[in-house]
Amino acid sequence: MMRDSPALATALAIRARELTKRYGDMLAVDHLNLDVHAGEFFGLLGPNGSGKTSTIHMLSTLIRPTGGTAHIAGHDVSNDGVKVRAAIGVVFQESALDRNLSAAENLRFAGLLYDLPRAEIKRRSDELLALFGLTDRRDKPVASFSGGMRRALDIARGVIHRPQVLFLDEPTIGLDLPNRKKIWRFIENLRAETGMTVFLTTHYLEEASECDRVAFIKSGRIVQSGPPHELVRRLGAFVIEIEADDTDRIAAELAPRLGHAMMDGERICFRFNGDAAQLAALQTEFADRIGALRWRKPNLNDVFLWVNETSADCESPAHTPSRDATLQR
Ligand SMILES: Nc1ncnc2c1ncn2[C@@H]1O[C@H](COP(=O)(O)OP(=O)(O)OP(=O)(O)O)[C@@H](O)[C@H]1O
Ligand SMILES: [Mg+2]
Repeated sequence: MMRDSPALATALAIRARELTKRYGDMLAVDHLNLDVHAGEFFGLLGPNGSGKTSTIHMLSTLIRPTGGTAHIAGHDVSNDGVKVRAAIGVVFQESALDRNLSAAENLRFAGLLYDLPRAEIKRRSDELLALFGLTDRRDKPVASFSGGMRRALDIARGVIHRPQVLFLDEPTIGLDLPNRKKIWRFIENLRAETGMTVFLTTHYLEEASECDRVAFIKSGRIVQSGPPHELVRRLGAFVIEIEADDTDRIAAELAPRLGHAMMDGERICFRFNGDAAQLAALQTEFADRIGALRWRKPNLNDVFLWVNETSADCESPAHTPSRDATLQR
């Protein structure tokens, strides 16, 4: 059971208890418990359909929970929607822009919704458009923007009122690397300046590795959480990657010696705590049946694969072959 003292509750930007969403028979979010501290950069990670957007929609009052409670900056999402909405900014997975309006009009509309004075809206809009290189597009309809320009404007729209808590639902999907970097620099600066809490979902796990803490969600339930470096460390010392035509057979054959395999597209990955000599022996043994065998340090993507392949957490130790039985059958 999670602690729930009044002092803790006020220091929390986001608090969910047994938060649940059903769509008919479909249990999309399953009794979720979550604490995000003020100023924290938190990532909710999981495969398609695992309940990330449904969670953000409940926390941002767009949909009503089927059960449980959630508070944003101390305000109840079910009974205090107006206060919650004043405290948050949301960049939805689907663009929230009006395509028929210009960039400046979209920002003005958002600013008015938050009761910002007109002069302030103009000042912040100009600043945000300049930051994202959109100044010369300010009066053009959003329909004429590229996907990347639209995403940048969606983010500008989400932060124009300098929210206490910012929800970002796959903010950088489809963006090229320079634009992704530009957006992250902007969010980072805003966090440093305002102490804003950020709640992120993303499928780019290298972006999520910058989070203070991440939680992996699977079928609506959190199955693993912690600081990214901690989760990666718990996974093991190394990951062995094997490329082969007959991945299933190789995975099954090696499982007794290397533990459960994680499938990453055409590659088989194993968690490994052995040494170079043991690896070389394995390489020799399988040389004529595999395309490649590599070992490397694990990363957050491996944690994602591990969590989704096995439903297990990373607490179970990675395989450490014994000295005498060096990877021999
Ligand atoms: N309005 C809805 N009506 C019925 N089912 C829904 C609705 N919205 C979502 N779902 C279902 O709820 C589950 C969780 O969906 P959700 O959009 O929260 O997942 P997600 O983790 O955001 O996925 P993605 O990574 O694809 O964005 C899915 O099975 C989805 O089909
Ligand atoms: Mg989603």
